Amino acid sequence: MMSSSLTLSEQEFSLIQKIVFDEAGISLDQSKTSMVQNRLFKRMSFYSFTKFNDYIRVVQFNRDERIEMINQITTNETYFFREEIHFNFLSSIVKKYRSHEIFRAWSAAASVGAEAYSIAMLLDRTLGHEAYQVVGTDINTEVLKKARLGLYPESWVDKISPEYRSKYCLKGKGQYARQFLVAPDIVRHVTFLEGNLLKVQNELGMFDIIFLRNVLIYFNDATREIVVRNVIKNLKVGGYLILSLTESIKHLSIEELVQADASIYQKVVA
Ligand SMILES: C[S@@+](CC[C@H](N)C(=O)[O-])C[C@H]1O[C@@H](n2cnc3c(N)ncnc32)[C@H](O)[C@@H]1O
Repeated sequence: MMSSSLTLSEQEFSLIQKIVFDEAGISLDQSKTSMVQNRLFKRMSFYSFTKFNDYIRVVQFNRDERIEMINQITTNETYFFREEIHFNFLSSIVKKYRSHEIFRAWSAAASVGAEAYSIAMLLDRTLGHEAYQVVGTDINTEVLKKARLGLYPESWVDKISPEYRSKYCLKGKGQYARQFLVAPDIVRHVTFLEGNLLKVQNELGMFDIIFLRNVLIYFNDATREIVVRNVIKNLKVGGYLILSLTESIKHLSIEELVQADASIYQKVVA
């Protein structure tokens, strides 16, 4: 039986640090050593390894295992209608939306999908069934599987307003008791795809609004700039980039963007 007291040496930690940075852009400082150790314990058990060096060797040569490692390392906390102020902003811009084109929103770093479905509920309520599309992307392949199901613990419904709850949430029964399902009418307007923010994702097309929230905190400034520059390639001129209230890119001087409100930026030139 493998011991849970397995410890990562400094040299092993710096190898993992480099792989995670190269793969996902995530900067792990020394203070994250025990977190990394705990999160990788499951993978060590899977291989019955007793030394992290053996695991690192697998990760270095096997892309599938690198994906597994990133799945364990990323932090995926999220909830419905997080930072309500951004949904009030979205509501104000879609009420003024006059184009005949479908309104497209991107939840970049979507985690298990609560953000993408919150956006979709609001767009469905404001624009109607056929007038919008939401895309959610994430590097973590496990959270994407959950997002596609649209099935959440009952307690998560607390963050959804009673109106949206009765319109868009189906109470689970039998094996789904204590869970709720996002209504199929919403789910069919939301597509979840694997996507790494370190890369330009041309294939996603152009968006009217991009939510890039609670992910820049895991990057250093140089990576933040790369990620924001990548993401806004998919933003229409006049469209908005939404960051978390706790994140700022003011100091990055990205000339295409002007600040429209706290944590909200508008793309003003192509
Ligand atoms: C804390 S969650 C944020 C979820 C949601 N945006 C919100 O604000 O509630 C951060 C997400 O970023 C994803 N992530 C981290 N690095 C990434 C990268 N390089 N490319 C794409 N997604 C990444 C993680 O897998 C995780 O699901």
